[in-house]
Amino acid sequence: MTTSSTPILLGLNIDHCATLRQARYRDAGRDCGQMVEPDPVALALSAERAGVDGITVHLREDRRHIQDNDVLRLRQCIQTRLNLEMACTDAMVRFALDLKPEFACLVPEGREEVTTEGGLDAAGQRERVGAIVETLNASGIATSLFIDPEPEQIEAAAEMKSPFIELHTGAFANAYYDLEARHSELQKLRQGIDLARQLGITPNAGHGINYINIAEIRQLPQIYELNIGHSIVSRAVFSGIEEAVREMKFRMNLAAK
Ligand code: PXP
Repeated sequence: MTTSSTPILLGLNIDHCATLRQARYRDAGRDCGQMVEPDPVALALSAERAGVDGITVHLREDRRHIQDNDVLRLRQCIQTRLNLEMACTDAMVRFALDLKPEFACLVPEGREEVTTEGGLDAAGQRERVGAIVETLNASGIATSLFIDPEPEQIEAAAEMKSPFIELHTGAFANAYYDLEARHSELQKLRQGIDLARQLGITPNAGHGINYINIAEIRQLPQIYELNIGHSIVSRAVFSGIEEAVREMKFRMNLAAK
């Protein structure tokens, strides 16, 4: 049981490091060798030295950022836990079963979206999502569902026996400069976490969390892990990844909870 003084864990999403690499080296052949940069695996290893608790990657169907080989290399080298974000497709289920990450987070995937825009409609696809949850959990991969903080989605996750959910914090992040909307989104997150705990699900959260809005996110009681990508990778451009990770971990767990 997580208590209010249990530190929140940090999963670093390294997709944006791969996005930067792909911006220049999308079509690079083997002859480019060590020129191909930045390497997301090297970023993950440095982040681990600074204290991240896990590494998250989204292997998208269009392979726009993370590539298969990145995930295979991560599986071999990281010391923490690998969290594979994946679409609910047969191809991704096969990939996950071969890879055996510690965690798999089921996400919706649209080819046109810039990043994952809304939560998975688990309640609307109970059979399909439930079957994937069962298959992955049976093979020792702990599933999480990336869902909006809506009671019917959280109840669906409980019915499917998903041990984790990741509550989508994007609506909160987008509403940051509208005080009323922001408080209302925070309240939904708080209620979502409460409901998840009542139903025996461990709640994570992620999307759009940064060095500013973390001040409110960290006050949500009983969050297990935050998955953060863009903000930490952006800060690393100036400070380096180790400093960027240490600063976020410090802010996540400031005493005033
Ligand atoms: N969690 C999930 C499920 C995501 O899809 C993403 C990014 O797409 C993140 C967390 C991280 O979001 P951000 O890059 O905004 O921190």
